[in-house]
Amino acid sequence: MPAVYATAPGKAILFGEHAVVYGQPAIAVPITTIMAKAVILAEPLKPHGYIRIEAPQIDLDCEIDQLPKDHPLNLAVTLVMQQVQIRELPALRLRITSTIPVAAGLGSGAAVSIAIIRSLTSFLGFPIQPEDISKIAFEVEKKYHGNPSGIDNTVITYAQPIYFVRGQPFEFIKVIRPFELIIADSGVKSSTATVVSDVRQLWQANPAEYERLFNSIGEITNQARLMVEGGSLETLGNLMNENHEYLKTMGVSSPLLDQLIQSALAAGALGAKLSGAGRGGNIIALVKLEDIGRVSSALLEAGAENTFNTTVHST
Ligand code: PMV
Repeated sequence: MPAVYATAPGKAILFGEHAVVYGQPAIAVPITTIMAKAVILAEPLKPHGYIRIEAPQIDLDCEIDQLPKDHPLNLAVTLVMQQVQIRELPALRLRITSTIPVAAGLGSGAAVSIAIIRSLTSFLGFPIQPEDISKIAFEVEKKYHGNPSGIDNTVITYAQPIYFVRGQPFEFIKVIRPFELIIADSGVKSSTATVVSDVRQLWQANPAEYERLFNSIGEITNQARLMVEGGSLETLGNLMNENHEYLKTMGVSSPLLDQLIQSALAAGALGAKLSGAGRGGNIIALVKLEDIGRVSSALLEAGAENTFNTTVHST
């Protein structure tokens, strides 16, 4: 049997991170220039139920039973088995690779889960709907993010810009004029669960102040949606800057992230902000096509470990 494979892109949160956990809207976009890939090969000489998992980038090469039951890779496979109502899989080898930086706010965990879910269901010849893919990936996210909003699994499953409010049906955003984003990875690993839990403590200690911040970010996100759907890129850039100021006040930025943002703006970006949980991870900058090279070089000089760019559009 030939190998079966599936991929899933990275993602960036354009507006509304953290506030989205508290019911405010957020906008997320796929980053299709980076992706996770899962390849499945049948192992016809091995007994039924044999599953070997290889993830060379995290030095993992073992049989699935050697992983804890709640390990994200094991959990993704188990949840697919439950979905397709199968007790034992035919012998197989699952190889996972990814060009999405880990713990950088770029959706690496959700993308790996989604690549696994897609490849395994395709290997088994079981059609699966996007909402079920997203639901399974959300279950895996819950294991290691504690209290995820669900935005990552949704944007990565559908690979389209989305407007997302926790607990409500999400909406696709129609991007009227495609635009360019540069994503700069600070190289500083950041645990989403830790930052989300710190924000929760700050909110509990000072609910009025934090709710004011969340509401302001929600208003910015709604204005940004209008700009993405047909307004001015200059205004969109300014809204990114404003959103970043609120994230700074919330205590989730860092001197390095602020420095990257300043360098991007000085090199001609229309706007820039941290994206994802913050403290480390990545920043995003809105740029004109002709400024990509200059802004990317400025970001690398200012200390970014790596930069990617992507065109945000809807299909
Ligand atoms: O996984 P990250 O780092 O992109 O952050 C997720 C965004 C948060 O709003 C901070 C958390 C969430 O679940 O929405």
